[in-house]
Amino acid sequence: MPKAPSSPKPKILMKKNGPVSRSELVSIRRDIHQHPELGFEENRTSELVKLHLKEFGLKPKSVAGTGVSSVFGKNNGPTLMLRCDLDALPIHEENTFGHKSKHDGVMHACGHDLHTAILLGTAKSLSQDMPSKGRVKLNFQPAEEGLNGADAMIKGGIMDAPKVDAVLGYHIWQQLPVGKIGVVTGPAMAAVDRFEVKISGKGGHAAMPNRSVDPVVVAAQIVTALQTIVSRNLNPLDTGVVTVGAIHGGSAFNIIPPFVTMEGTVRTFSKEAGKTIPKRFKEIVNGVCKAMNAKAEINYIREHSAVVNDAKMASFMRDVARDLFGARNVLECEPSMGGEDHSAYQELVPGCYVFVGAGPTKGEVFPHHHPRFNPDEGVLEVGAELMSEAARRWLAQN
Ligand code: NI
Repeated sequence: MPKAPSSPKPKILMKKNGPVSRSELVSIRRDIHQHPELGFEENRTSELVKLHLKEFGLKPKSVAGTGVSSVFGKNNGPTLMLRCDLDALPIHEENTFGHKSKHDGVMHACGHDLHTAILLGTAKSLSQDMPSKGRVKLNFQPAEEGLNGADAMIKGGIMDAPKVDAVLGYHIWQQLPVGKIGVVTGPAMAAVDRFEVKISGKGGHAAMPNRSVDPVVVAAQIVTALQTIVSRNLNPLDTGVVTVGAIHGGSAFNIIPPFVTMEGTVRTFSKEAGKTIPKRFKEIVNGVCKAMNAKAEINYIREHSAVVNDAKMASFMRDVARDLFGARNVLECEPSMGGEDHSAYQELVPGCYVFVGAGPTKGEVFPHHHPRFNPDEGVLEVGAELMSEAARRWLAQN
C-alpha cells in the first residue's frame, strides 16, 4: 500500500450557529473524501470530527485509537447511541471530479465519508436544540471494513457509562434513489464468515500425475462440492451464500504444484444456516481431501453476526421517516447479503439500521466498493434530518 501523502490539518467547515446547510455538509464530506484513511489509521478524520464536536460545544473523547465518542443531554432518561463509521477502502479512485481522493490506492468507496458528515450534521442540530430528557451518545467508529472496529469500540467501553439503551445506525444506499429511506424489520444485513483453506497434495511432473497428488484437481472438486451446501443442505426457505473468491496454485504449465490455497466468504441470516454451513463446509473439504489423498488446513472465522433490526425500533424509524419525507418515500427494502459490524451493537441493545437512498437519479449508478462509486450528495441533508429527528423523538418518547 503506497504511503499516504501528508494531508493539510483539518479546519472548521461547519459552524456552530445557523441551520445545518447542504453546503456545509457537502464541504465536510468532500474534505473527508479527498483525504481517505484506512481502518484504525483514521487520524486526520478523527481530528476533524473532534474539532467540529468542540466547535458545537460538545466534549469528544477518543475510543479505540481513532474512534470518537461524545455524550450530551440530561441524566433524567435513557441513552440513545447514534453510530457511523470513518474508514475508507484500499481502492484506487477512478472518478475525475475535483474532490477525488488525494491518496493513491485509498478511496471512500462505501460512503463512510458521507456517514461521518451526516453524524456531524446531526451533532450540530442536536447541540443547538438539546433534548430535554435523556442522553445522546455519538459513536464515530473506526475500521468497519473487515477489521471489526465495532468490537474495538465495545471493548473501549462505548456501551457503558452511561449505559446505552438503544442504537440507531445507517448506511447510504446506492440501490435506493436519493430521497428514499429503506427500513427492514428483522435481519437487515447478513452474518459474515471468512475462510482460508490450504490443500496439500504431492508436487511433481505434470506428465506423471500418477506419481503425484494433484491439489489443483482436489481444489476443483471442492469448489464444485461446496455449491451443494446451499442447494442441498440448507432449508430451501432459508438463504445463504458460499463464495470461493480467490484460488491460487501452481507456477508453470508442466508442474503439478505441492499445494493450492483458496479463500472466500459465507453469508447467512439465520442462526441455523450459520451453524449448518460451517459444519458442512469442513466435512466437504476434509472429505474430498481424504478421498483424494490430499490434506486440508482450514481456517474458518466468524467475522460478525447478522444485523437484526428490533421490530419496535424499525416501526419507530418508519414513522419518523414517513413524517419527515412522506409515506411514498419510505420503503420496505430487501435485506442485504452485505455485512456490517454494526451487528455487534444490536446484539447488545435493541436498534435499527436503516438504508438511506443515495442512488443518483441521472446517469449510471456505480455500486458500493466500485472505483467510480458516485452517491448523490442530496443524501447528506436527508440523513442528518432523519437522525436528528429520530434522536429527538426517541428520547421524548422513552
Ligand atoms: Ni459501508
